[in-house]
Amino acid sequence: MAAGPLRFVTFEGGEGAGKSTQIRLLADALRQAGELVELTREPGGTKGAEEIRNLLVEGAAGRWQAESEALLHFAARAEHLAHVIRPALSAGKWVLCDRFADSTLAYQGYGQGLELDWLWTLRRHIVGATEPGLTVILDLPVERGLARAETEQRYERMGVDFHRRLADGFRQLAKTDPTRCRLIDAARDCEAIAGEIAGLIRTRFGVSL
Ligand code: TMP
Repeated sequence: MAAGPLRFVTFEGGEGAGKSTQIRLLADALRQAGELVELTREPGGTKGAEEIRNLLVEGAAGRWQAESEALLHFAARAEHLAHVIRPALSAGKWVLCDRFADSTLAYQGYGQGLELDWLWTLRRHIVGATEPGLTVILDLPVERGLARAETEQRYERMGVDFHRRLADGFRQLAKTDPTRCRLIDAARDCEAIAGEIAGLIRTRFGVSL
């Protein structure tokens, strides 16, 4: 029997789009349906990757060369894949991840202007066959998201034009890979968004919530 898509679901979007709320709601719904769930985030998810996260989210907006920044995100991701994501998938768990490699394409590629081909090459090397089975991209007007963002960390201070570029980048990514990526209008109430995500889980994985 051919293997279906990996039960690896990533949540993406700009700042303040509501990813954390929606990922928690999906984790609760899956657990109530009797499924095992690993809920995790990037950058982070392991001790080493959380240390790299601190280097990335704190300090002056211009503290890193864009290339260094992309490599730090991929270094954190390699740790996370080896120590959390792949073992959890092998153990039969769902893995729900708050941000993953599409954030590097959007933030460091479309946002910071790095060559997309180079980022895709790194992605193929680091992620390999562990591409998500489904990527939910929450789309919200940039000003609204920034006003809603809970913290004032490094990326939130990068200016509205940067955030517009990366939001357009996420829309591009959704068009490029419409089987894996789904763009969701995040300007609606929480229940409507959660309902649409439950529908995506049903059509993509055949699991009713
Ligand atoms: P968070 O705010 O969703 O916790 O993510 C931390 C920040 O890191 C967020 O502003 C987006 C940024 N980021 C990148 O720039 N590239 C990446 O590859 C990832 C995973 C996150």
